[in-house]
Amino acid sequence: MPLMPIIELPDPLLRAQSAPVEAITDDLSRLIRDMFETMYHAPGIGLAAVQVGVPRRLLIIDLQDPEEEGGEPVPRPHVFINPEIVHRSDARKTYNEGCLSIPDQYAEVERPDVVRAQWTDETGAQREGEFHGLMSVCLQHEVDHLNGILFIDHLSRLKRDIVVKKVLKARKERDKAAVL
Ligand code: NI
Repeated sequence: MPLMPIIELPDPLLRAQSAPVEAITDDLSRLIRDMFETMYHAPGIGLAAVQVGVPRRLLIIDLQDPEEEGGEPVPRPHVFINPEIVHRSDARKTYNEGCLSIPDQYAEVERPDVVRAQWTDETGAQREGEFHGLMSVCLQHEVDHLNGILFIDHLSRLKRDIVVKKVLKARKERDKAAVL
């Protein structure tokens, strides 16, 4: 199975609204397998299809730590097709987040603590579940990707500008180094 290139800031596709998945096809199953391989290799714990250049409403999560898996038991690794967050708790929590599309940058992001979601799984079954802890953070972060939102959008403008500048500078250095 091939690894897929992960797009990075400032790729405009990261700002796209992903379109719904219409049907579970062999191509989709192949994409899901390739996304898992890409995510484990990166390594990361969540990946949205748009991050590998496919703007469809599909995301995968594997916290790779059963103790971190909050909420109702769902099989891992997790596949969420056309996910919708249908309830967000008023209580909020802060986590230190990063993103495979914003390499080497981390920031404290505040989000609702508990969320309830509906989605289709990889077999086509409709699912609903409640998530807290890291699973809730990860699901909200990945659903944001489907709507063209990045974790840096939850920061103050000042903090966001600092992160973007750092990423662009590192990118420039990397591109230059590749030429030599
Ligand atoms: Ni991300």
